[in-house]
Amino acid sequence: MTSADFEYMATLLRNRAGIVLSVDKTYLLETRLMSVARKHGLAAPEQIPAALRNGCAKLEADVIEAMTTNETLFFRDRHPFDTLQNDILPELIDLRGQSKCLRIWSAACSTGQEPYSIAMLIRDHFPLLAGWQVEIMATDISPSVLARAREGRYTNFEVQRGLPVQLLVRHFEQTAEMWRVRPELRRMVTFREFNLLDDPAALGTFDIIFCRNVLLYFDVETKRAILERMSQRLRAGGALLLGTSETVYGISDAWVTDQQLRGVYRSNGRPRLGPIERLLKPGASETPLQRRAT
Ligand SMILES: C[S@@+](CC[C@H](N)C(=O)[O-])C[C@H]1O[C@@H](n2cnc3c(N)ncnc32)[C@H](O)[C@@H]1O
Repeated sequence: MTSADFEYMATLLRNRAGIVLSVDKTYLLETRLMSVARKHGLAAPEQIPAALRNGCAKLEADVIEAMTTNETLFFRDRHPFDTLQNDILPELIDLRGQSKCLRIWSAACSTGQEPYSIAMLIRDHFPLLAGWQVEIMATDISPSVLARAREGRYTNFEVQRGLPVQLLVRHFEQTAEMWRVRPELRRMVTFREFNLLDDPAALGTFDIIFCRNVLLYFDVETKRAILERMSQRLRAGGALLLGTSETVYGISDAWVTDQQLRGVYRSNGRPRLGPIERLLKPGASETPLQRRAT
């Protein structure tokens, strides 16, 4: 691929999906685009830039899809899910006792392991929430990973990654060579196509945002814009969880780190409610934070 063509492809990927491609990734670009070229009847990936310049929306979508990294697994890194179970959800149950409504966003959900892990955790550890309105909204830029996520079918290899066998037996049914998420768990998750470069206002507001292992593909300006828009989507007392290698430090002051919970961020404009504010809320009982303090 000529350097002009590489530059054209890198600009397109940055503008459309936020993905940053440095020159040393030329080989990666060409390798990943081989199947896209074949699918569109082109002899080689080198012909893709010219075809794109002629304008082909389907080809552009396939190029973006081919350049995303969809690696994911159930209960990835375990720690965020322990924090969700032991701290974040108990606090929010205290805070939202009146409205009995919780909304969780799994932004960049890939093939669905993240939102289904959240759904399993809620079903197994928070029977009280069965009487609440709980919505898990899972979004991604890639229609093909979303189609797989909606189906909820996983290979033996995929269910062996991060998923304890008791949860496999409880929440999945075996179909031929695959394992399928049971319908009651699938119904807990709504999948929707969404590009993180766009304004998420139409998605509504959330109590918890999982935005894990996707910001690392973006440049600082893109990360800042996404984080700032997300901070507008978080309800008071809510929490943001990023991937282990991701942070808000030096990127956005719309967020502050939670001093007690590793890897958890609070919106600067909508800070976590302190013990006094919580006590002033009607129906508030002793909170996990207070219990930790005594
Ligand atoms: C490595 S996976 C992370 C999956 C999951 N959050 C986890 O931590 O296991 C990254 C996902 O981000 C998605 N993605 C990349 N760019 C995106 C964008 N601009 N908007 C929305 N999703 C995007 C990819 O399609 C991919 O499924």
